[in-house]
Amino acid sequence: MAADLTLTASMLRHSILPDTVTDGMMSFNAGGPPPVLRLRQGKQCSIDVVNNLDEATVVHWHGLRIANAMDGVPYLTQPPIAPGQSFRYTLTSLDAGTYWYHPHCNTLEQMARGLTGVLVVEDEKDPGFDQDLPLNIRDFRLGGDGQFIDLFRARNAARGGTLGTVATVNWEVAPVYDLPAGSLVRLRLAVTDVTRVGTYDLKGGAAQVIAIDANPLAQPIAPEGIVIAPGQRADIALRVPDSEGEIVSLTLRTPQGPRTLVRFRPFSRSAGRKLEELHPLRPNPVPEPDLANAETIDFVFGWSPGGDAPVSSICGTLGYTFWSINRTAGQTDIPGPGDPLAVLKQGKSYILRLRNETPNDHPIHLHGMSFSLLRSDKRAVAPLLTDTALLQSQETMEVALVADNPGDWAFHCHVIEHQKTGLTGYLRVDA
Ligand code: C2O
Ligand code: CU
Ligand code: CU
Repeated sequence: MAADLTLTASMLRHSILPDTVTDGMMSFNAGGPPPVLRLRQGKQCSIDVVNNLDEATVVHWHGLRIANAMDGVPYLTQPPIAPGQSFRYTLTSLDAGTYWYHPHCNTLEQMARGLTGVLVVEDEKDPGFDQDLPLNIRDFRLGGDGQFIDLFRARNAARGGTLGTVATVNWEVAPVYDLPAGSLVRLRLAVTDVTRVGTYDLKGGAAQVIAIDANPLAQPIAPEGIVIAPGQRADIALRVPDSEGEIVSLTLRTPQGPRTLVRFRPFSRSAGRKLEELHPLRPNPVPEPDLANAETIDFVFGWSPGGDAPVSSICGTLGYTFWSINRTAGQTDIPGPGDPLAVLKQGKSYILRLRNETPNDHPIHLHGMSFSLLRSDKRAVAPLLTDTALLQSQETMEVALVADNPGDWAFHCHVIEHQKTGLTGYLRVDA
């Protein structure tokens, strides 16, 4: 039987910068950026990933709480998909919201070349938007001639990571979208960049952040100074202005001032809608941890003790070891990826105490389960439910979860250079 969807990973040439064609890009779509995948909440969807690259790959569905065997982590959950081969994923998401997908094999290179796409799980109950607009936000590391330059630099990998040179939204530089005046649009921001922790502002129109990392906010917030780390998402409800001259723009804060990433231009007569007409998003059915009986597990994110060269792997290494979790430099995309960082019992509640003893920020991501932010020793944290939390330098944060999904779940920093140089491991949930 044919799958519901087919994604073919392949190389392509594509124009990112004007008047140039970038060689050596990768996509899940022969003609352009990876497609937006749309799943229905609670409905099974089968996806054939066909590997037309000349190297191995696997695809991970970032943020989805799905069966371990479908999680797309090489060796930990499946063998890498060899060139010319394919693998069928069957995904059923009980949660709605904005997610994304990307390879977990030779991850830095494959993502840097373009393999990052947005995945939407449609709400069972329609919140009432006129339009839904995913924004795949990421940089590419291109020179002025439009060709890729070194995808990372070791000295940066040992610090904050290597930033790209060209900011894009849906593979375009500063695109302009025409939106019906006075309409209600759901902007789904997904930061699929390999490195950039950014601060974003949406100006113009009336707008509210309604969800972060797929989970609705109990109290919507203004879309000002929203910090989004690699792997994170933010859903914004935008009421488009009434008249054509009123441009809405999404900007990224940079040391040189705000950089416009995308603009929205109202057209035609106002639809006259109001934000208040939207139905609030329904919380996702994530079990609530029993904090009184939760066991606390410590994780220390630090420098790498050994600095040993990584084991070579068909899923690639960057050739360096800089980082560690609990004093061990991790490597999870190799055969026999070592012991889990912790073994959890299915159904039990846990507090994960995340301590960052490095001078850099790390967006810490857990596969297969969502966790809620409890507290930090550095700042007030909103009680978010998430799969990726930005742990600031020298910060200790406590998060909680119910270990309800059995299997081996990757647990790593989402600055891919950090992940690929030691800041990775996995948690085991025993049935
Ligand atoms: Cu977004 Cu381990 O992944
Ligand atoms: Cu993930
Ligand atoms: Cu990191």
